[in-house]
Amino acid sequence: MTVTNARHQPMLSGAFVPVADELDVDGLRVSGTLPEALQGTFIRNGPNPMFEPRGRYHMFDGDGMLHAITIRDGHASYRNRWIRTAALEAERRAGRALYGGVGEMHFPSREEVGDAGSLKNPANTHIVRHAGHDLALWEGGLPTEVTPDLETVGPYDFGGRLDGALTAHPKIDPRTGELLAFAYLPFPPYLRYYQVDAGGALVRSVDVPLETAVVMHDFAITEHHVVFVESPMVFDLAAALAGESMFRWDPDHGTRVGVLPRDGDEATWYEADDTYLNHFWNAWEEGQSIVFAGSRQVGSAFTAGKGGAMDDASADAEPGRPTRFVVDRAAGKVRVDQFDEMGGDYTRINDAYCGVRSRYLYMGGFSGEATIVGHFDTVVKYDDASGERTTWGVGAGCITGEACFAPDPDGVAEDDGWLLAHVTDRGAGTTDMVVLDAREVAAGPIARIHLPWRLPFGFHVNWFPA
Ligand SMILES: [Fe+2]
Repeated sequence: MTVTNARHQPMLSGAFVPVADELDVDGLRVSGTLPEALQGTFIRNGPNPMFEPRGRYHMFDGDGMLHAITIRDGHASYRNRWIRTAALEAERRAGRALYGGVGEMHFPSREEVGDAGSLKNPANTHIVRHAGHDLALWEGGLPTEVTPDLETVGPYDFGGRLDGALTAHPKIDPRTGELLAFAYLPFPPYLRYYQVDAGGALVRSVDVPLETAVVMHDFAITEHHVVFVESPMVFDLAAALAGESMFRWDPDHGTRVGVLPRDGDEATWYEADDTYLNHFWNAWEEGQSIVFAGSRQVGSAFTAGKGGAMDDASADAEPGRPTRFVVDRAAGKVRVDQFDEMGGDYTRINDAYCGVRSRYLYMGGFSGEATIVGHFDTVVKYDDASGERTTWGVGAGCITGEACFAPDPDGVAEDDGWLLAHVTDRGAGTTDMVVLDAREVAAGPIARIHLPWRLPFGFHVNWFPA
């Protein structure tokens, strides 16, 4: 794609400039030593528009592209593929962009796109593996199944049991093998909870009525409950259609934490200090209380559309701050404690601890000036037991994205394993995949895999052991 109007498209310039090709490269150069036990594939999903947008572009709208780095016996290879959604295939047939989205709404006609639908599902946010299916996720539509080789299979609706949106942040309970998920909707009941059993069958769908549509990007699970945060970030489709931001911070709306028994039908809601949680770290039960943590934003977390912050992508918003919440169910109160000043997001844990108490929390942090969420300068680890924070700064002129935890298969302790992330040198225009020892984050990478090109801005990553 040639961007002819980049000056007016901040989310297509600098680190956002998309790549134009699909590559297969073996024998990547490796500096340092890859751990013998680190065998598998590190995959990142993210927006990479194939065609010049027909209107104002927002990163939420870009066609999903998967970037996979496979490590086998100390050798590394790279592959990237666009996710061939029905909407992208319609655009490929037309040879140009047909849709507009969060950046500037445009719904193509049925004549233009056939059965692809009037709303583009770019499948660009995350990738998870459950019950033998690799699912590329976008919270406004169905999952898109892909193969481990990154070929697109097609929309995935759990055998017809899912009729629309699914969060990009489902949770897999490592003890039961279940996948728990939800969807926020622009129409009543506004929120729906889904239970998928370990075999991949969607077995339960529960309406969780809200009074209005709010943005809900993530949630959390415990052994017996799921936790929602209904924030003042309201979702306004009518505003989007009028060319305004579809996300709006409404302080009159208030914030409620919802606790729904995993097998129940009715949530209990607790008033809380105003909070938008883009991402949760984890949640767990302590007696009658439920504890959870995440990166808390107050005020406008992000906007889009003509009235939004699109004109200066670098000044997006105040970053979230690491915060712990205690839902005292006996007292009916929520305690909110920010535990660090550092801004950051893309909060992760060792996923084997999903739903039970986790001691170690990882995040992408901003040590300097905040930039757009997803462009961090620091890899951060918190020890929730000691309160200690350890960091590794990725270097002057460099940015990093999400770091995920890859467990050492022979490990015992919660942090026995590695943190995997991408680091892009903006000046040199190169990207490395870095491997940090999760026990020694401050020591920096023990290995770097040099990619064949600069990886553009992206969203979430996951590690799939061989
Ligand atoms: Fe996310």
